[in-house]
Amino acid sequence: MVSRVIPVENFDLVIFGGTGDLARRKILPGLFRRFCSGQMPAEARIVGAARSDLTDAEFRKDIKAALEEFLPNKGHTAKDVRGFLDRLHYVKIDATGTQGWSVLKKLVRKDKDTIQAFYFSVAPTLFGPLAERLHTNKIAGPNARIVVEKPFGRDLESAKALNATLRDHFEESQIYRIDHYLGKETVQNLMAVRFGNMLFEPLWNAQYVDHVQITVAETVGVGGRGAYYDKSGAMRDMVQNHLMQLLCLIAMEPPAHFDPDSVRDEKLKVIRALDPPEREDIVRGQYKSDVQGDSYLEEVENRSSTTESFVAMKLAISNWRWAGVPFYLRTGKRLKARASEISIVFKETPHSIFDKDSGRHRNILSIRLQPNEGITLGVTIKEPGPGGMRLVDVPLDMTFADALGPEADDVPDAYERLIMDVIRGNQTLFMRGDEVEAAWAWTDPIIKDWTSRGDKPKAYDVETTGPEDAAVLMHRAGRRWLDIKA
Ligand code: BG6
Repeated sequence: MVSRVIPVENFDLVIFGGTGDLARRKILPGLFRRFCSGQMPAEARIVGAARSDLTDAEFRKDIKAALEEFLPNKGHTAKDVRGFLDRLHYVKIDATGTQGWSVLKKLVRKDKDTIQAFYFSVAPTLFGPLAERLHTNKIAGPNARIVVEKPFGRDLESAKALNATLRDHFEESQIYRIDHYLGKETVQNLMAVRFGNMLFEPLWNAQYVDHVQITVAETVGVGGRGAYYDKSGAMRDMVQNHLMQLLCLIAMEPPAHFDPDSVRDEKLKVIRALDPPEREDIVRGQYKSDVQGDSYLEEVENRSSTTESFVAMKLAISNWRWAGVPFYLRTGKRLKARASEISIVFKETPHSIFDKDSGRHRNILSIRLQPNEGITLGVTIKEPGPGGMRLVDVPLDMTFADALGPEADDVPDAYERLIMDVIRGNQTLFMRGDEVEAAWAWTDPIIKDWTSRGDKPKAYDVETTGPEDAAVLMHRAGRRWLDIKA
């Protein structure tokens, strides 16, 4: 299978925070891959803008090192690298002052055929000052787009304030709020599977679905991000955005069209239909130390921290489609495997014609985001061989690497895809302002409740599935979590 690469329009992309970790690890390597694929037009330019005093040549040297570090042996040539580095420029800029803005203004093209994109890969406190300076210095034209990284606020109030600041200078149609989970290949496949097949949609409701599990498990700890993470926790860092987005795509009604507002309107309705969870339906955890690593408390250097590195919860969506169907979400750090998976667990058949020894069987549709992206449908069949009618569950397996061949290895990374969408002007995979606010409106009371009660997360052993209470959350309803497997 050969996918078509359609070059995007010519562009100037300015990356504020161009020397930072995200730019070096994801944004620039992603752009390089798009350059190699032929999607980036030959005249397109990328401008790194940051505080450091660098020349173009020094910036290029640094990015060359980043490509070597983050894209080793990926089949590109030295000529590819040279060609890409030639597209790079650098401007030393003061995000809250005046330095560098006139230089940037001269550099960025303003003709109607060039898209201008400004990527804010900086601390959220700088989003407002950058938006204002782009506007007042008349650098951003009507074709301009701004790309905003998470965290988008830390509660409803700050998210509203941030939306208001950005909208003082840019239209909503120019604001691209990134949630990189929406750029993952399988997440988009989720929509293709649901709305491109007749098979699943008729079963996608409370009549046939027993419950849904969404797991985003990581093996890494908070590492060097302790200062940020300890003020955030799993609820703000993962649930309010990534898990919420996955939940929306699973639960939303079919949009009338695959266009940005139709899709985002439907997602918003899901968030607004979420019930506030009961206290006993939420489990918070914090990882302990082991021989190889520090505990959460040691990593964040705060012995009395009550921030959670794990959260599991049972949610209810109050609408006709999902009444009575629990959605179980869990995410955590330092768990036993890195695995992100959504599983739709269907109900048992209403009556079994087989004898009791044949066991209980259910169909499970699993959508695996990472690793080994793919979709598996568990079906019940007769165990092969003689000896009566015994049933066994086997997977109908559509691991993309097997189904699509070598090309599956070359699917664009989430960031590559999303940046190309920015240039194309397609906001479907970006969060709209009201969506982000609705997600905070649902999250805020939960966090406030923890804070006001001084709630302490349960300590859990590393390389496990999290605190025991998370299993109990399921057991109470006679259910169990599916295993976390890499
Ligand atoms: C980020 C979170 O948004 O997503 C991190 O801030 C987390 O804490 C990361 O590790 C997970 O992303 P991925 O793509 O590795 O699953």
